[in-house]
Amino acid sequence: MGIVYVIAGVAACAGLLFGFDTGAISGALLFIRPEFRLSPLQVGVVTSAALAGATAGSIVGGALADRIGRRTVILITGVLFCVGSILSALAASAGWLVLSRLIIGVAIGIASFVAPMYLSEISPPRNRGLIVALNQLAITLGILAAYVVAYAFEPGGRWRWMLGVGVVPALILLVGMLFTPESPRWLARSGRQEQALAVLRRVRPPDQASVELAEILSAAGASEGRLSGLLAPALRMPLVIGVGLAVLQQITGINTVIYYAPIIFQRAGMPGAAASILATMGVGVANVIMTIVALMLLDRAGRRPLLLVGEAGMVASLVLLSVGFASGSQGATATIATVSLVAYVGFFAIGLGPVFWVMISEIYPLSVRGAAMSVATFANWFSNLVVALVFPSLIAGLGPVVAFSGFAVIGVLGFLFSFRVVPETRGRTLEEIERQWGRAT
Ligand code: BGC
Repeated sequence: MGIVYVIAGVAACAGLLFGFDTGAISGALLFIRPEFRLSPLQVGVVTSAALAGATAGSIVGGALADRIGRRTVILITGVLFCVGSILSALAASAGWLVLSRLIIGVAIGIASFVAPMYLSEISPPRNRGLIVALNQLAITLGILAAYVVAYAFEPGGRWRWMLGVGVVPALILLVGMLFTPESPRWLARSGRQEQALAVLRRVRPPDQASVELAEILSAAGASEGRLSGLLAPALRMPLVIGVGLAVLQQITGINTVIYYAPIIFQRAGMPGAAASILATMGVGVANVIMTIVALMLLDRAGRRPLLLVGEAGMVASLVLLSVGFASGSQGATATIATVSLVAYVGFFAIGLGPVFWVMISEIYPLSVRGAAMSVATFANWFSNLVVALVFPSLIAGLGPVVAFSGFAVIGVLGFLFSFRVVPETRGRTLEEIERQWGRAT
């Protein structure tokens, strides 16, 4: 059993890189901008290159994971992360930097869902929520690490180090994954039953391995693995749930806070850059701590209660934030902004943050899991990209009150959506969940 956690620790380095590499650029840009004399448009391109790469990566990753295996794909992303980190640290021009960030982005986009898929397929049902959400914990640790690294290398403006240190977790991922087994479910589906059984024997108590293999095979036998299977009527609902949660996770504004927190704090009248950076770290710490709380509750309370409480709390925090900005008094606004942003990120971390990634690793039938997770992940990165591009103009043009109360309204709709359609998956095997949708393909 313990071995599953070792494997999970290695695979979760993908999450660490996801968080670090999406978080690191904002600090580095402070110095890259003057060095390469970037225009505002170029700043936008450098910032969003990784998100654009991730959007592209999420399209190709699913088919690849279904064809060559989950572990092999994660290994490839390990190589891409290493190459991208080294290239971005050495960048001699803006174009070079954009290309390196695109490479890292592709790796992020693929790893963002192939890692949870791999973790889900290797976990026992009893603690699958915890194990898959370890990836989300790693994302939040990566974001916090990016804030800390930016702070540490800020004196002297050493932006090459800020981006380059990403090579350390990339190497751990690459070397560590060489020693982990392939997903038993992918092996079974590809007709390699003996290898699947051998892996299950490594990660389960002896009597459970063959029982689990039999269950995987009977579920896999019930469906034909074709991409066109995505259009099967039985898959409509799981696709609506995955894409719906994907879009909701982003258009309720999480990354406007993760990527732009210091700007929001300054806009709220916080005195000095140091105070804003400190408050931003507070947000990063709240994100990590509440993700740990979620981890402990996912397999006990279940996915649904956490999602609903999290969404309700996000709406309340956004309303408070809007009221704070509307009040107009600088001192009060800065205090209210700090409290409400910490609360907002905390509620995201117990709900939409982990539950989205856990849910999409559970609700799709094995035969189309890669392709279906690709679709949901694409929706997630694409929405992320759009929000990141639009938010600075939104806040400059319409102001923070409109922006944040807009996110609150979307949050209310998201709550209603989740209440109606999101199922409870706690404690059930992936094959039981699969049967719920009927014959899928
Ligand atoms: C989201 C990211 C976000 C992160 C924050 C993830 O679940 O997909 O977009 O930056 O959580 O912790």
